[in-house]
Amino acid sequence: MIPQDFIQTLLSRTDIVEVIDRRVPLKKSGANYQACCPFHNEKTPSFTVSPTKQFYHCFGCGAHGTAIGFLMEFAGLGYVEAIGTLAEQVGMVMPEMTAPNPAQARQTTSLIDIMQRAEQYYRQQLKASPKAIDYLKARGLTGEVAARFGLGYAPDGWRNLDQVFSPYGDAALEAAGLVIVNDAGQQYDRFRDRVMFPIINQKGDVIGFGGRVLDGGEPKYLNSPETALFQKGHELYGLFQATRAIRDAGRVLVVEGYMDVVALAQHGVEYAVATLGTATTPFHVQKLLRLCDQVVFCFDGDKPGQKAAWRALENALPQLVDGKRIGFLFLPEEHDPDTYIREFGTEAFEHELENSLPLSGYLLRELTADVDLRTQEGRSALLKNAQPLLTAITAPTTALLLRKEVAALAGVTQAELEALYVIKPIAAPQRQAPQKAKRAVPSGLRILLRCLVMKPELARELPRDFHGEGNEGAAIAALVDWLNESADETSTAAMIQHFQGTLHGPVFANAQGEVIHWGEDFDILAEFTGIMRKIRRDAIETEMSMLQAKGLAMNELERVRHDELKEELKQLRAQVG
Ligand code: UTP
Ligand code: MN
Repeated sequence: MIPQDFIQTLLSRTDIVEVIDRRVPLKKSGANYQACCPFHNEKTPSFTVSPTKQFYHCFGCGAHGTAIGFLMEFAGLGYVEAIGTLAEQVGMVMPEMTAPNPAQARQTTSLIDIMQRAEQYYRQQLKASPKAIDYLKARGLTGEVAARFGLGYAPDGWRNLDQVFSPYGDAALEAAGLVIVNDAGQQYDRFRDRVMFPIINQKGDVIGFGGRVLDGGEPKYLNSPETALFQKGHELYGLFQATRAIRDAGRVLVVEGYMDVVALAQHGVEYAVATLGTATTPFHVQKLLRLCDQVVFCFDGDKPGQKAAWRALENALPQLVDGKRIGFLFLPEEHDPDTYIREFGTEAFEHELENSLPLSGYLLRELTADVDLRTQEGRSALLKNAQPLLTAITAPTTALLLRKEVAALAGVTQAELEALYVIKPIAAPQRQAPQKAKRAVPSGLRILLRCLVMKPELARELPRDFHGEGNEGAAIAALVDWLNESADETSTAAMIQHFQGTLHGPVFANAQGEVIHWGEDFDILAEFTGIMRKIRRDAIETEMSMLQAKGLAMNELERVRHDELKEELKQLRAQVG
């Protein structure tokens, strides 16, 4: 559990506009910022970010939340990951890191800093190198795309980074993978005379580089080693830049090479990412399926490309989600996505994508390719080869349909196949009926709630045992409880974050949408005082009418109470008038 006060401080130091703008460029509009919503398709912007209240709200699709929520929704980060990302950016150390390993946390921060400085250096060097610029131009890239990917150039020479870092001998440079120490103890730059492709994680930090030779030298690509920051099996090249486009297109394309990603973006296909010289891992697939519903693998047309596709299929199986599509696009043998789109154009390429082979089709095609289904041996081989693949799938419907198909091909029943594979029948998932929303609530509470969303600390003015009708009353009561439990200062963002995902989340979200256009000069206090009076008046009137209903049966105490209420009401009315 990350402590509440940590989150509050974090949100108070974070600027949501900056966080979102890096990923979804925003335009100023009055007191707020706007963009076309990254969570649904639209032509005119209804996605609104409030710098003063530190939340976002989309009037089109209702998406809403704080900076933490945004990173979770947009970048598919987990709760702790999202908090970690923001913490790192404002220089706060995650609480659970403080206890076990502060040294490691410090090291991570300094490595990120080193990588960022190296990236800047390589970018400057590209500007100064006509040779490298010509190379990129010859490959059809404009300066704009080069800038989008932060492309750079590591000049020839053994110790260029000496100009950037002192002392050059610092062990951190080796830990960052930028400097190599040979057996004789000599230190030198890893990347020399190469075009540099920075690898950026989902937090937006540079965590590694790929460097390409300009001529026919070997190796063609040199990559950062795995470091404390960089794990190849977890990262995807280009994902940070592609996230918005992936959201918009509803799909992501996975290719093999750095240049494929960059060339595709140059041709308007901005939703491509690349594995980093490794096979596609289950982590990759999981990460991508959190962002969109369709993943298409498009590997080179050659033999290694075919192999990579099959590995991708194997590693995708445990991550399959019913209703999400995984496809495979096989290009002609002599092509990779870069050469294909350059030769045939964007339209032809996207047309190919539309017709990619679904995972199930690819799986069955490969399983039946080398077996003769007319013979018992062939059918038996099919069942045997299919077993590890079919049993790896956990998505119930996909698994069921594929089992049925394999069973049919092998000439056995589904039950026989399942018995053979020792698959237990799946229990029907137990679903809780959604809680029914209560009747619409008195508008007084709604107005009060809006005031509290603007200025949560006003809830401290409410009685500790506050209770109100309906969803709004319950949400306000929960807010009062929460504020009384923690003596800390609070903010709208902290409040939203606290109630996000709870029963009250949607109620607060509604109110956020209503207040996001209230200017800062809006007189909250006047509104609050007014509504508090009205609520009190309503309460008095209710109580009085209950007492009055007793008429002559009122006892002495009740009569006194009635008179008190009457007096209070008189005063309240006088104040309003
Ligand atoms: P390819 O050999 O297919 O190169 O490597 P490419 O992407 O077509 O590159 P260009 O178009 O010639 O510039 C695909 C990926 O495999 C890894 C890199 O990640 C590369 O992007 N690779 C390749 C290496 O790591 N080292 C190498 O020497 C070659
Ligand atoms: Mn290529």
